[in-house]
Amino acid sequence: MTTDVGTTSNSAQASYPPSAAFTATANAGPELQAAADADRLAFWAEQAGRLDWDRDFDEVLDWSGAPVAKWFVGGKLNVAYNCVDRHVEAGHGDQVAIHWVGEPGDSRDITYAQLKDEVCRAANTLTALGLKAGDRVAIYMPMVPEAIVSMLACARLGITHSVVFAGFSAAALRSRVDDAEAKLVITTDGQWRRGQAAPLKFAVDEALGSGADRAPSVEHVLVVRRTGLDVEWTTGRDLWWDETVGTASPEHACESFDAEHPLFLLYTSGTTGKPKGIVHTSGGYLTQAAYTHHYVFDHKPGQDVYWCTADIGWVTGHTYIVYGPLANRATQIVYEGTPNTPDEHRHFEVIEKYKVSIYYIAPTLVRTFMKWGRDIPDAHDLSSLRLLGSVGEPINPEAWRWYRGVIGGGRCPIVDTWWQTETGGIMLSPLPGITATKPGSAMAPLPGISCKVVDDNARDVPHGEQGYLVLDQPWPGMLRGIWGDMDRYRETYWSRYAEQGWYFAGDGAKYDEDGDVWVLGRVDDVMNVSGHRISTSEVESALVGHPAVAEAAVVGASDETTGQGIVAFVILLEGVENTGDTLISELKAQVSTDISPIAKPREITVVPELPKTRSGKIMRRLLRDVAEGRELGDTSTLVDPAVVEALRAKR
Ligand code: PRX
Repeated sequence: MTTDVGTTSNSAQASYPPSAAFTATANAGPELQAAADADRLAFWAEQAGRLDWDRDFDEVLDWSGAPVAKWFVGGKLNVAYNCVDRHVEAGHGDQVAIHWVGEPGDSRDITYAQLKDEVCRAANTLTALGLKAGDRVAIYMPMVPEAIVSMLACARLGITHSVVFAGFSAAALRSRVDDAEAKLVITTDGQWRRGQAAPLKFAVDEALGSGADRAPSVEHVLVVRRTGLDVEWTTGRDLWWDETVGTASPEHACESFDAEHPLFLLYTSGTTGKPKGIVHTSGGYLTQAAYTHHYVFDHKPGQDVYWCTADIGWVTGHTYIVYGPLANRATQIVYEGTPNTPDEHRHFEVIEKYKVSIYYIAPTLVRTFMKWGRDIPDAHDLSSLRLLGSVGEPINPEAWRWYRGVIGGGRCPIVDTWWQTETGGIMLSPLPGITATKPGSAMAPLPGISCKVVDDNARDVPHGEQGYLVLDQPWPGMLRGIWGDMDRYRETYWSRYAEQGWYFAGDGAKYDEDGDVWVLGRVDDVMNVSGHRISTSEVESALVGHPAVAEAAVVGASDETTGQGIVAFVILLEGVENTGDTLISELKAQVSTDISPIAKPREITVVPELPKTRSGKIMRRLLRDVAEGRELGDTSTLVDPAVVEALRAKR
């Protein structure tokens, strides 16, 4: 067992080498990087061998249509078969796939055999509803097993799912349903929120509208009973899950689909305009999901109890709750509630009860635990933990050390994993058992992945200096486009380094003196609040949607717990009365309704003017300075420098 003391490398960064005991049984060895370096495509072909293919692929990568890749060309597989059936066929039907822990304290253990039956029943139901391969289904559900079953049933039938986070508003759901032209929406009657049942189907009814405003693509709504709340019912459109899936046959023979068959859409925020539907396909995505889950988490099927605390509404839930772990025959916790319901001990009780060995969370949660104090985790036996993961935002070194020392007892390696909705799976991360980790650094690209940190002219930045993170080689889990808008796909990710053909990630990064990579956060107008991606322009349009508002500017200001907090500045229309707190509450409610409560600004200030450049651009950098109470930077390009002082005086 190692102690909780880092060693100091020549770069004066504390680093934590892996313990000999961990290395001795680690999945990853030095041969992994060597194999990837020797022949990258052969390496990926070998990783694809983690899956069962119904037809072998003829070619590993076809990049002739760049920037749209084809991986494992000619290969055919069924994603759901790979995640469920094959484990049952291999004799592991009785292994628990999911220890589900519900918010009110109810729980269910679901074995791989039971999961297979459920997925088959749901697949038979979707088929009976007339859904076919290539159709889209929207899934708007809390963290209940049926959400995972729904995703897998879609995958089994070649239906492209679009999971919409159940915290999103009816308006946000509607725009995603329309964009994807979903034929079916799967939801629940309600969801548990801090001990209360809150309606959810209600939001679906509102989203789908009626009469002339009806969502034209939707034929049915499938409803899981979760809370017992009363729901309104549209006869002919609405169906209960228990009356359909519950009575369907558990026998279903699956067919295989092309490696490039679209598996899912996942909407995420960009710098401008409406959220974009990121398109992921089957063979390459699942290969990267399985590969990264196996090595980054050092996952041992049948031994580990794995827990990723994300929501399936985000990509982390897709890749590291559903596809990666299930492809690798994990036994995992799926948790419905918040970390402090009924109290702050909840996560640690779950770890203790189920003997969780791998725990994957966001830095914002670590910081929340720090605030609650170490007495809470210290009251529990957390000795089952052997590996800790972090995802979603840069983890500050202090939180990293606390996570390692207090939660991990000083013995667990931490994998700080950098990736995005667009990358499909983890791209940069330490390899447990190999990498000596540094608090706050995602360290290096995984074997088979390649990145650079470059300046505006595509030159490598000198060590220690800030640059942009780019991915200079295609990877199997990469997005294949933006649904319905391939021009935007090219423009957003591939135009900045078009000559070089590199993917622009939108993150700033630097190399340290050892050449290790530190991801520094977004360089565009995307905010990161508790690991959730929210665009400034989306929040601005929601605010401008209020009848009192003429103009709005939104910035992400650093926040001790959530990483960033949303701070908004608004100008009112001429003649509108500023009603103070009433107006501010209305504006916050407007953002909740338009997007989601997670996008609600922490602060809204009514101002007479916004700082603008001569070309009319709002100077967000200055607004961030104001929001964070800093000395103001260069104001010489402002039309009227006095505006900023007026702003500051307002706050
Ligand atoms: O800014 C980076 C940050 O989260 C962004 C991606 O957000 P999303 O697509 O919602 O996916 C989040 C979960 C994969 C990135 O552009 N980010 C994610 N992980 C890290 C990170 N920033 C620093 N370190 C990380 N480990």
